Amino acid sequence: MAQSARIDAAVRQALALTQGAQAPAKLAEALGYATLPGGARIRPTILVSVAMACGDDTPALTDAAAAALELIHCASLVHDDLPCFDDAETRRGKLSVHRAYSEPLAVLTGDSLIILAFEVLARAAEHDPLRASRLIRALAQRTGMPGGICAGQGWESEAQIDLRAYHQAKTAALFVAATEMGAIAAGHEGEPWYDLGAQIGEAFQVADDLRDALMDEKTLGKPAGQDDLHGRPSAVSELGVEGALRRLSDILAGAIASIPSCPGEAALAHMVRRQAEMIMPKVPAR
Ligand code: IPE
Ligand code: IPE
Ligand code: MG
Ligand code: MG
Repeated sequence: MAQSARIDAAVRQALALTQGAQAPAKLAEALGYATLPGGARIRPTILVSVAMACGDDTPALTDAAAAALELIHCASLVHDDLPCFDDAETRRGKLSVHRAYSEPLAVLTGDSLIILAFEVLARAAEHDPLRASRLIRALAQRTGMPGGICAGQGWESEAQIDLRAYHQAKTAALFVAATEMGAIAAGHEGEPWYDLGAQIGEAFQVADDLRDALMDEKTLGKPAGQDDLHGRPSAVSELGVEGALRRLSDILAGAIASIPSCPGEAALAHMVRRQAEMIMPKVPAR
């Protein structure tokens, strides 16, 4: 099965757990709206690629980890778009969840997806309890405080924001989860995979800042110019467009160099280069 089909099947299988005759219909529908067909699925793609580079000896565990990570990511987008955060009307080319449903349903959609992610990993314990408990711990660490997405969003309530710490927590944390969880699912240690995830994550946020500054809402499928609008520090406001582009290339080169030696090292370097091409903003002629 192609990797994208594998990830899609894993997300759909997880989502099926939330549906049922007793479920409130609108919330059940909103969960599907927030996750399907989804975006680029870059985090689970990295997770599955790392697991395969490490042998992928328990595919069911890898699938559960990929689905859990993507569910957390989708939840973070639903909450991030709420009026109390970025107040975004669109996401992935359609209305954001609170605009399509309601604010209460968007809060509950995010909450339900976060809980579902951990349920999926707990259920996967039947394949390998020790690895599953390590996966739960890794995902929790990269989602909560002090260094996960919650911390990242929390930085926005501070008077002084450290751009590095903000980006590491807001965005890179889930890329670290991707590389670490891919290794753990395949029975390897997660720790040696930290650098690769952190660097891809940092590159990804610099690219997102560039896209936010350079592209329009129609192309992005979400509001543009948000960092400027909300007065957020960004790679573009700190380094300028040229500086941010240079920084992006530097980090990506470092990411490829940091891939730990493993049987699938060459294929993994190829995947990182392909993802890099996809995230590299197409700078319009100006
Ligand atoms: C958007 O992430 C949020 C950031 C961390 C910048 P993605 O660009 O991966 O979003 P989707 O899943 O493809 O929509
Ligand atoms: C989102 O960051 C990161 C999350 C933790 C959800 P942004 O607010 O910069 O991302 P977009 O531009 O809305 O996707
Ligand atoms: Mg935000
Ligand atoms: Mg946002």
